[in-house]
Amino acid sequence: MKAKELREKYLCFFRSKGHALIGSAPLIPENDPTCLFTTAGMHPLVPYLLGNKHPQGQRLANVQKCIRTGDIDEVGDPVHLTFFEMLGNWSLGDYFKKEAIEFSFEFLTSPEWLNIPLSRLAFTVFAGDTDCPFDQEAFDQWRRLGVGESRIARLGKVHNWWGPAGQTGPCGPDTEMFYWTGDGEAPALFDPEDKRWVEIWNDVFMQYDKQADGSYLPLQQRNVDTGMGLERVTAVLQGKASCYDTELFQPILQCIDALRGVSAPAVRSDSERIIADHLRAAVFIIADGIVPSNVDQGYVLRRLIRRSIREGRKLGIADDFTSRIGTVVIAEFGDIYPELRQQADFIRNELATEEKLFALALEKGTREFEKLIAKVPPHVVKKVISGKNAFFLYETFGFPLELTEEMAREHGFEVDREGFDKAYRKHQELSRKGAEQKFKGGLADNSAATAALHTATHLLHAALRQVLGTHVAQKGSNITAERLRFDFCHEEKMTPEQIAAVQRLVNDAIARKIPVEIEEMTVEDACAQGAIGLFGDRYGERVTVYTIAGVSKEICGGPHAKNTGELGHFRITKEESSSRGVRRIKAVLER
Ligand code: ALA
Repeated sequence: MKAKELREKYLCFFRSKGHALIGSAPLIPENDPTCLFTTAGMHPLVPYLLGNKHPQGQRLANVQKCIRTGDIDEVGDPVHLTFFEMLGNWSLGDYFKKEAIEFSFEFLTSPEWLNIPLSRLAFTVFAGDTDCPFDQEAFDQWRRLGVGESRIARLGKVHNWWGPAGQTGPCGPDTEMFYWTGDGEAPALFDPEDKRWVEIWNDVFMQYDKQADGSYLPLQQRNVDTGMGLERVTAVLQGKASCYDTELFQPILQCIDALRGVSAPAVRSDSERIIADHLRAAVFIIADGIVPSNVDQGYVLRRLIRRSIREGRKLGIADDFTSRIGTVVIAEFGDIYPELRQQADFIRNELATEEKLFALALEKGTREFEKLIAKVPPHVVKKVISGKNAFFLYETFGFPLELTEEMAREHGFEVDREGFDKAYRKHQELSRKGAEQKFKGGLADNSAATAALHTATHLLHAALRQVLGTHVAQKGSNITAERLRFDFCHEEKMTPEQIAAVQRLVNDAIARKIPVEIEEMTVEDACAQGAIGLFGDRYGERVTVYTIAGVSKEICGGPHAKNTGELGHFRITKEESSSRGVRRIKAVLER
């Protein structure tokens, strides 16, 4: 059975069971800031799962475009894809476990539909834990339909629980269906750890609404949410070991062969699979309006394209190949997803541009790499690129560790892998902490007084740059509940006129009652917007930028006042030398 037929059969079956067929929502969630991409068919339906009325009724089915980046490092193996199509059916407060399981059973086993022998199927149900009991009802229902007890495994939340799609929202226990892909008869006893059992469908019984504090409240309306991976099911029904062996990927892989000037190899390499998976995903993401960048969806897109390019180089293909593969993806999927055809030029253009940009980054990175190795005198016996430098190349020029290692080898260098891992982990930790502290800021004392002094420091910094010149840069800052202290580069003692002018500028900004705006972005974007307060090497990090419109834009951990109007009267109490070329100002806010 071809994927096309599977899509049609699925929709036809559920239409015959009273489901309205709805279209695929875009890959970019419309109203969910907690998620970058649509990860499942239920995702765009969250408002209806929570109780809003869906205009097309209580029974729905569709084929949904999905992106799951969690599996990005597993790409290359036979079953994990970045982009995939999910066949799904929903009950919005209508049928529940009994009918959902009946529908799944009939579609899988009936000769009229997929006609899979029951002997090739196995099932899992939720085993129960402290939050929620064993799913007896699902278990009993499978048994009633003739499934042997030894073919039903009971597993915990890690396996048999689904959702929420973001951090909060509808979720619940699920029951999963597995297909035996091994040779010969399937074993009587189902072992979910045996990789020859491949998961093909998941029925989720949504009974809970997960809260921000981690607790589970019962949902007002009980729903069913199911998901079947189109690519995977197509592969197993065709007896193929991998999705990549199906007609969904073959034309893309053939295009790779043509670009390499080789005939199809017997076994596809990870590089080929990665290129096929990533560029297919990239085409769909661009079609939904995202372009490569350093933030959010754009950053994921950039990673997908750049990794494809690197893998392409390994295979000896370069020079504008991504857009050529893009053309194949558009041709293959354009009938079902017309947006690909509508956006064809845009998609090809974005791919080609990103490929050029990455070539430039590689060039610059290579120069940087050469500078790094030139610093090591030739007589040094053990030549090593430090973990910090390897990480710098990774963060700033998108050099994966393997690339740095490859280049290092060519020059008789080693790379400190452990050091790199350490730098990488530290970076991840920092960005996680950064995200957690987004609105908490880096200061222990969150009181209004320190927040106000913090904001006053930004105004002061901006005023100093205006009065003394843009050479003024922060060297240090210290805030107590009573005063601020600010150290900055400047050679001479400030004159009383200069001090008065700075004070006046700050107090003007306070009098204008300007809102303090917070935004999160990458260091690169902050730089591009002219933000100041960038210390050291923080490339690639996400930072918080505080903007006081028309006055100041600064990278900072906060906390800050909400409006300059909260600050009171600003007065400089001291201006002195701190060290050579550095001046120190102390100031207070008087109310
Ligand atoms: N939302 C469920 C899943 O993605 C069906 O597996």
